[in-house]
Amino acid sequence: IDDLATEGVAGKRVFVRADLNVPLDGTEITDDGRIRAVAPTIAKLAELGAKVIVASHLGRPKGAPDPAFSLAPAATRLGELLGKDVAFATDTVGESAQAVAAGLADGQVAVLENLRFNAGETSKDDAERGAFADQLAALADLYVGDGFGAVHRQHASVYDLPKRLPHAAGDLIATEVGVLKKLTEDVRRPYVVVLGGAKVSDKLAVIDQLLEKADRILVGGGMAYTFLKAKGHEVGISLLQEDQVPACLEYLARAEKRGVEFVLPVDVLVSPEFPDLKGKTPANPTTVAADAIPADQEGLDIGPKTRELYAEMLADAGTVFWNGPMGVFEHPDYAGGTKAVAQGLLNSKAFTVVGGGDSAAAVRLLGFDENAFGHISTGGGASLEYLEGKTLPGLAALED
Ligand code: 3PG
Repeated sequence: IDDLATEGVAGKRVFVRADLNVPLDGTEITDDGRIRAVAPTIAKLAELGAKVIVASHLGRPKGAPDPAFSLAPAATRLGELLGKDVAFATDTVGESAQAVAAGLADGQVAVLENLRFNAGETSKDDAERGAFADQLAALADLYVGDGFGAVHRQHASVYDLPKRLPHAAGDLIATEVGVLKKLTEDVRRPYVVVLGGAKVSDKLAVIDQLLEKADRILVGGGMAYTFLKAKGHEVGISLLQEDQVPACLEYLARAEKRGVEFVLPVDVLVSPEFPDLKGKTPANPTTVAADAIPADQEGLDIGPKTRELYAEMLADAGTVFWNGPMGVFEHPDYAGGTKAVAQGLLNSKAFTVVGGGDSAAAVRLLGFDENAFGHISTGGGASLEYLEGKTLPGLAALED
């Protein structure tokens, strides 16, 4: 972005591909972290006199307008953060977007409606994606890619559009890549990784890479139950991906061979039913050993002994990467495990990286000071795929 600034952006229409995919409760934004993370790039461009056109996806609408996925609340929040009026186009490349883009004064900012309201954005067909990218390109003179959370998507605005306009990486992408690159190169040891979240299948590729890098891998969340099953334990009605059990067994064996400590919960909080996340009625869970989950119960958080164990293992870490909550943290009775890990990161002297939409949101929603962590990534899938060593389409297009 500084290179673009040197060439001069004043009076130019700059398309900023951001990731404003924030969690919403109706039209209420429950965590604005992603908007705050990209706001400085937008402010910088506006201060340099650019006409800034911000675009993003939100959720997964089906390629057609759907008011439940409107970016209007995000545009309003962006305006509050920038302290200025932000125009909003009610479409992506239609009359409204064209009028808004043409009417921008130098230093003004506009947000387009959700890019995924147009089927061309996510199409697998190169021509269809290309046609949408052509329409987007017609709105602007320059492109800044700063939606780190979406760089793993080969989508029109992420991958095809930068090929059509002079382009640069924004400051958020530069920071994110700088931090994650450090994790793949010169980590301070011990390097401890904490993995949680619902599905083990989402994490296997990153575990594959981390087995070559990490000293310890601590597992929690829904994915832990497939590993417990692989160890021969019954998991009751807990989340289980039976088809992934052989892969888990293989990783456990590889970890042992490589001397990587692969740590599973020793106790868990269980209940016969999933908690009420809206009314938050008390769930009254019981604590059981991880190898003694009753047949009619579901594991919903790591237990107190596991929290203590994980906190100890985090205390002497040199570097920590954490992705995925330890339990159903949205309910207060099951937030303890995720809180304990967040506190464990804060208590350790390690360089700490929180990766992922859910764990980043959990840290903020549970009231932790986000500035106390080394780095909180705005990318969930993107940060994992970066650590997996994959080529990320949105980064490749910017480097091109
Ligand atoms: C995310 O939330 O990880 C990014 O915004 C990408 O969203 P997607 O998984 O719907 O592509």
